[in-house]
This record gives sequence, structure tokens and C-alpha cells, in this order.
Amino acid sequence: MLATAYEEEADLGDTAYDNAAKLLKLGSQVKTGVDTTCLSKTIGQRRFRTIIFQFPNVASREALYGQNPNHVLVTRFLKSSRAHLKSSGLVVISTVDSPFYEGAFRIDEAARKAGFTAPDIYTFNPKDYPAYSHQNTGDEESAINEHTAFATFVFSA
Ligand SMILES: C[S@@+](CC[C@H](N)C(=O)[O-])C[C@H]1O[C@@H](n2cnc3c(N)ncnc32)[C@H](O)[C@@H]1O
Repeated sequence: MLATAYEEEADLGDTAYDNAAKLLKLGSQVKTGVDTTCLSKTIGQRRFRTIIFQFPNVASREALYGQNPNHVLVTRFLKSSRAHLKSSGLVVISTVDSPFYEGAFRIDEAARKAGFTAPDIYTFNPKDYPAYSHQNTGDEESAINEHTAFATFVFSA
């Protein structure tokens, strides 16, 4: 397993730093400074059975190329992931399940642009993952506490 963070090591918060230490102890690899929109830059040619991005979010609504930046992030993540999937591999994304978030991500359109068919959709219930705690981009709060419905999208290679 390879666990990644967007931030460089020096910028990791205490929780992320502790989590990284726990993961290393459990035998996982940990890599910081990994941009999910261009994975090859930091992870080389490695391929995985499953690539997971829990709650992608850029914490901005400023349009990028006329598109919602979260749609751009997810589209580029999916495109980038394709080159790092083993055959029959899966890409998994969870988001808040609400019309507002669907408007931001436009998941089906992102899938199409990245060459995936429409994903399978499952309910994501944080209670099923007691050791997982969600953290917002840019602060120590959690959107999980502000919303009631979440979805996991599974894209097949
Ligand atoms: C809402 S937080 C979720 C964090 C964590 N995955 C969780 O489930 O609690 C969104 C995360 O996406 C990361 N992010 C945004 N753009 C990214 C990019 N281009 N590559 C990698 N991570 C990115 C942010 O740094 C932030 O940690």
C-alpha cells in the first residue's frame, strides 16, 4: 500500500504526521508532495489494483478554464490514474452526496472525459469506518459533521 498526501512533509499537520507514522509501522509506504492530477511525476510507473481519493476538494470555487475547479481536479485525477491501474483495477472516489456537490464534481462527465464508463455508486457511511476521520481542505474541521449523505463512486478500468 502507498498512502499519499498533497502537502510536502514540512507542511503536514500533527494528525497527518501521526497517521503517516502509524502507516509506516504497519508496513505501508508513505509519500508526500503527491499531486493526484499528475501521479507519474511522483510515483513513476507504479500500478495498483485500487486507487482511492477520499473527498477530493480544492477549497475554491474559482473557475479553472471555465469549469468548477473540483470538476477539473476529479477529471484530471481520473485521467492520471488510468496509467497507474493494473488490469481490472478500480478508482474510488467518495464525496458528499448532495445536488450542490454533484454540481461541483459532475462525476459522470468527469468519468467520460477520462475515458471511464459511468461509475457504480454506493452509499458511504462513515460509521462503517470508525478509524477514518474526514478533514476539510485547509482547516481541521470536518464536512462529515455538516452533511448526512455521502457516496462512493467506483470506476472500472
Ligand atoms: C476535503 S480534504 C479530504 C482529505 C482526506 N482525503 C479525508 O478524507 O479527510 C481534500 C484533500 O484533497 C487534497 N487535494 C486537493 N488537490 C489535490 C491534488 N491536486 N492532488 C492531491 N491532493 C489534492 C487537499 O490537500 C485535501 O487534503
